[in-house]
Order: sequence, then structure tokens, then C-alpha cells
Amino acid sequence: MRLELLVADAVEWCIDEGPEMNEHKALILDEVRKYHADVEPAGDFEPGVTEIWPTGAVHDVADRLALVEAALELRVAGGSRARKFESVFARKMKRRKAHLTNSGSSANLLAISALTSHRLEDARLRPGDEVITVAAAFPTTVNPILQNGLVPVYVDVELGTYNPTVDMVARAIGPKTRAIMIAHTVGNPFAVAEMAELAAEHELFLVEDSCDAVGSTYDGEPVGTFGDLTTVSFYPAHHMTMGEGGCVLTSSLLLSRIVESLRDWGRDCWCEPGESNTCLKRFSYQMGTLPHGYDHKYIYSHVGYNLKITELQAALGLSQLGKVDDFCAARRHNWRRLREGLEGVPYLILPEATPRSDPSWYGFVLTVDPGAPFDAKELVDFLEDRKIGTRRLFAGNLLRHPAYLDREHRVVGELVNTDLITTHTFHVGVYPGLTDQMIDYVVASIKEFIAARG
Ligand SMILES: Cc1ncc(COP(=O)(O)O)c(C=O)c1O
Repeated sequence: MRLELLVADAVEWCIDEGPEMNEHKALILDEVRKYHADVEPAGDFEPGVTEIWPTGAVHDVADRLALVEAALELRVAGGSRARKFESVFARKMKRRKAHLTNSGSSANLLAISALTSHRLEDARLRPGDEVITVAAAFPTTVNPILQNGLVPVYVDVELGTYNPTVDMVARAIGPKTRAIMIAHTVGNPFAVAEMAELAAEHELFLVEDSCDAVGSTYDGEPVGTFGDLTTVSFYPAHHMTMGEGGCVLTSSLLLSRIVESLRDWGRDCWCEPGESNTCLKRFSYQMGTLPHGYDHKYIYSHVGYNLKITELQAALGLSQLGKVDDFCAARRHNWRRLREGLEGVPYLILPEATPRSDPSWYGFVLTVDPGAPFDAKELVDFLEDRKIGTRRLFAGNLLRHPAYLDREHRVVGELVNTDLITTHTFHVGVYPGLTDQMIDYVVASIKEFIAARG
């Protein structure tokens, strides 16, 4: 209940229409409403003609108004909307702190970089330490490991769930292993409660990449609440969007401070832009070999980045946040319709939710059985010809890509399924912009192809 209130509050923030609203602004917003009606795509679904996108954002008039209103204010750098979003989103994700970033990739970079901070003392990750991950991944789940001089240890994934099992990860733990960094693939949670237990047993950090999984739960709890840190993406393909954007969440106040510092140039000070002296000690610190009283605003305790977002992104984010539960429900509905429609169709390995999970799906993943009398590319070509968009399961086997060929790594077990995914797996869309008619056309097309070729 409390959360609903907060989300409602967040949505209201988007449009500030009191009786005192500036008359020019009211006029502009009125025109925006009309413009929105003009450009709203009209027309019926035409099978084979209308594009069925594999991913996409759904925007309404409130999004357009929120963006225009924020633009009129000309406060472009992140400000009150960004902070508002962080506090509402942290509650929604059941974490104490949320830090917005300019992408999910930046969120992953911050999460892993935070684990290397000197502020963690002996617990910090050092160059050469190992982080267990998967090779059937989105590249920027793995890249921060390499970018921090750490060594990725790759394990295979299961077909159907497209996640590694806890056993696969347990077998990969060696004397230099210090962390686990895995994504909830296409919104399907890995066995995250058990993975957190494994991590605790071996004193490993656990980072959950929840970029594809906002709204997914495991044992009734949101993903992202089991590990030390979690990350989210707000790119348009994801569950809600800011155009570009991401977020790092944690309930550790120490990790939160480190993430914030790394995101904001590496500075030690935590004042918001425009604020000064919130610690009441701005000119009283002595840090490093700086003279006593050096302005805390300009003291740097990390070798940081600037990965912040703008207020326009936050305005869109707040508007989208009020709709995200409906978006997730539509994704689940579309996934179920595809799953039921394709049940029993030969030569396909259908996706499976991890036991005890309720995924908020990013996509509907299909693997063509290696014994099928056709290959995945033929099926993909057939669907694409019918304007049914498809996407690969991200990179397939990352280790086969030029960027990763010469990078230090360890592989535990054989990446048999990961290789199979590279050649036999793809996904179709479940995003909220798809209608039942479209989903039924996807099902009918796949069945038609297989009936003709099977
Ligand atoms: C699992 C996963 N992690 C990270 C990212 C990166 O997010 P962004 O595109 O916002 O950088 C993506 C992007 O799709 C992703 O699927």
C-alpha cells in the first residue's frame, strides 16, 4: 500500500498542473496532448505487413508531457526528479539505496568496480582475483570484470532456463574466486537464494544483473534482493525505459557510498549538485596528503567516472515507473500465450521458468533441437520475412567473439549448451506493445514452418 502511494506520487510529479500553472506552459502542454493524438500510430494489425518487434518501449501521452515539462524547466543535469526516482525505485526493489546511471552497462561497471574499492579493506577484489560468470551473456555483464583487471571464470548454462545451476557455479570456485556476477537471463531468475547461500559459504560477493528482470521474483521476493548489489537497465528494450539509463541498488550503506563516489567523478563528498556542506564539515577534513580544510567538494577518494543521468531521463523514468507493473503483467501474459500456443510443437526446446520463480519476461527464447530437419537460421529467416522480429540470445558464446579471444579467463566444464545457443537459439518478443493477434500470428507462423519442414 505504501509503495502504491509512492508510485502514484511519482507519477503526479511528472505533470505539475496547479491553478497557478504558467499560461504559456499550459498552452504548450495542451498542444503536446494534441500532437500526441496526431502521431499515435493508428491502423489494424496486418499479418506479414505490420512489424512485430522483438523488443520495444511503450510510451503514452503522460511520458511525452513529462519530457516536455522537464525540458521547459531547462534543468538538464539530474536533480530533484532523479533523486525522487531513486528513492521510489529503491522501495519498489526492496533495497535501501538506488543510484541512477546512464545505462545498465554503467551500472554493471559501477557494481564490479565498487567491489575493488579500498574502502572494503581486506575484502576488496584485487587484480587477478576471479569472478564466476557465464559465457552465454550480454557483453557488459562480463566486461566490468575484465575492465577491473579481474579474471572471468566461465560456466555453462542450462537449455530452457538459460541460467547456470548452483552446482555449475560451485564447481568453478577456486582459491582465487572472490565474486559471482550473473544475469537473470531474459528475466528468468537463476536459483538466486541458493546462489546467495553458496556465496556466503565461500565468502564471495554476489552481483545480480537484473537488467532484464525488473518485476521477476524468486521465492516471492524481487530479484536483486539476494545479492550484495544489483543492476537494472532502462534502455527501451527493457521493462521500463528512460531512453538510456540504468541503476545500481544495494542495501549496504558502505557499498552505496562507494557506488555514488565512483559514479560522481570519484569524489568523497555526497552533496547533490547545487548543495554544499550537508556534512557540516566541508572545510574541516584532512584526507590523503592534502592540507587540512581542503574543500571536501573537491576531494577524490576513488578513481571514478561520470556516469550520471540527466533530469530529462529521470522525468521519463518517473512517468514510466507508474506503469511498470502493468508492463510486467503484459509481458507475462504474452509469454504464457506463446508458451501455451507452442506446447507440443516438435523440434523446439521451449523456455522454462526456474523452479520457485515468477519471471517478468524480457523475451521468449526458443532453441531449435539439434536433431531438427531445419536449422535455426532457416526458421529465423522465415519469421523475419513475415515481419516477425527475432534476436539472438545476446552474444551466444562470448568467448567466440574477437574482443574476448586473447583475454585471460578460466572455463570450468565444457560450454556445450553455450555453443549450442550460439547456433540454435533466438528469441521473439513479449513486450507490452504486442497484441494477442500478433502473438497468435507468431505461434501460427512457427507452426506453419515446422509443419512444412518437419
Ligand atoms: C543482461 C543485461 N545486462 C546489461 C545490459 C546493458 O544494459 P544497457 O543497454 O542499458 O547498457 C543488457 C542490455 O540489454 C542486458 O541484457
